[in-house]
Amino acid sequence: MKQPLKVLFASSEVHPLMKTGGLGDVSGSLPQALRAQGVDVRIVMPGYADTLKKLRAWRPMCEMRLAPFGEFQLLATQVPGSKVPLILIDHPMFSEQPGNPYNGPDGHAWPDSADRFTLLSRVCELIALDEAVLDWQPDIVHANDWQTGLLLALLAPNPKAPPGLITIHNLVYQGVFDRGTFERLQLPANLWTPDGVEHWGEMNCLKAGINGARFITTVSPSYAREIQTHAFGAGLDGLLRHRHKDVVGILNGIDPQEWDPACDPALPHPFDAKHLDGKLANKHALQQEFDLDIDEEAMLIGMVGRMVDQKGLDLVLHVADAMLKMPVQLAMLGSGDPALEAGFTALMARHPGRVHVRIGYNEGLAHRIEAGSDVFLMPSRFEPCGLNQMYSLRYGTPPMVHGVGGLNDTVVDTTKESLKDGKANGFVMRHLDPGAILWAVGEALNYFRKPRDWQDIQKNGMQADFSWEVSARKYIELYRRALKD
Ligand code: ADP
Ligand code: GLC
Repeated sequence: MKQPLKVLFASSEVHPLMKTGGLGDVSGSLPQALRAQGVDVRIVMPGYADTLKKLRAWRPMCEMRLAPFGEFQLLATQVPGSKVPLILIDHPMFSEQPGNPYNGPDGHAWPDSADRFTLLSRVCELIALDEAVLDWQPDIVHANDWQTGLLLALLAPNPKAPPGLITIHNLVYQGVFDRGTFERLQLPANLWTPDGVEHWGEMNCLKAGINGARFITTVSPSYAREIQTHAFGAGLDGLLRHRHKDVVGILNGIDPQEWDPACDPALPHPFDAKHLDGKLANKHALQQEFDLDIDEEAMLIGMVGRMVDQKGLDLVLHVADAMLKMPVQLAMLGSGDPALEAGFTALMARHPGRVHVRIGYNEGLAHRIEAGSDVFLMPSRFEPCGLNQMYSLRYGTPPMVHGVGGLNDTVVDTTKESLKDGKANGFVMRHLDPGAILWAVGEALNYFRKPRDWQDIQKNGMQADFSWEVSARKYIELYRRALKD
């Protein structure tokens, strides 16, 4: 019998055990899709305090000792709701620090970030080399973002190491630390070169991953092109242009069970494309939950996400008062930059009954906003893939987006032609400025007032196939190509 392909999948977040954004969703669902296609995939992630609290069952796997991190153990469990094996690193740096894995409550990066993710990479290195006594050696190592970038740089010089692939979920986060940190963490001195971890005199974990990877994937075809330009390349565009033959864009999928309006336990009223009246009931429920005027005529704009520069929220604040001269309401959930949080909280105070902003992280509420809103706003400056617009498409909530990255690859602007072709599913700003946001809201409102067209737009989105199957197949193809080299 043919041996299954063995893949070590390294990630700093895996939904539902840890998630700050889309990386958690992808690491929770892509491995399941790989497994469904016969891949023996095992995930390694840190055993954060909040992760250990959520675990129902696990078993100790082995004790380890690694300089300069001391002793710790590995735990074996499975991704909840699936059969995907998950290895957790139980070290006090993870298990004794609750909350967000990257930033403390003050919004600043944890002071031991470099230590934590070097440990993650070192443990994966040992597993990849079959030196962790797990009796399992992967054929391929799949790293994700800067937190596991070092892993591929550590493996690259070793002829016994399996080939590696890195997926870039967001190029702007690179994990940059000084040379003293590199030395303190006892990383091999031969990695301190521009072909290893060094970038302009600093240690750059994402660059290390790109250098060590046989293939560099990113999460949409458009973003794969964009990151090779100066405007979107975050200082690594030269390197990515140099590697252009190895850069591949594979669009993310979504978890079709987790995000299904017909059986979503977070929704008061399930619905599907044939029963859109259920969606209206969710709108009323959301208006109630958010103290918004119960107004069917008002077009309810939803927003969910990290409040960071990437998402273009400052532009929304800039036009919000003008936008609210139109018959619209705004329902928003997010947290992040304190200035943006304060800006949106002040906007809510100025427009009672029309704007509600909830600062925080709440998964059920994210589902209810996707379901209860009429349209979903994502004016991102850049967006590697974006999952929220796919969720909103599935929930009959046409997205209004800036046409970059994955937004460009998933949203089709509504025009007479695209409506006739049965393709229109949202509204796409071709450039991004405050005026463009007002334009998109105005366009959406025009169509919102024409129920027949509106339902066509909703249904086009709801029928799209964003399942992981096709994308998982593309990853498997790349794994096989990497093995052939
Ligand atoms: P990014 O990864 O850049 O944050 P994505 O659109 O790819 O953007 O994914 C964001 C994911 O995180 C979605 O699943 C979204 O619902 C979730 N999310 C973001 N902020 C919150 C929040 N405040 N509460 C609940 N879920 C959130
Ligand atoms: C990142 C990106 C987002 C993408 C997600 C999952 O956080 O910002 O666009 O959808 O990763 O790949």
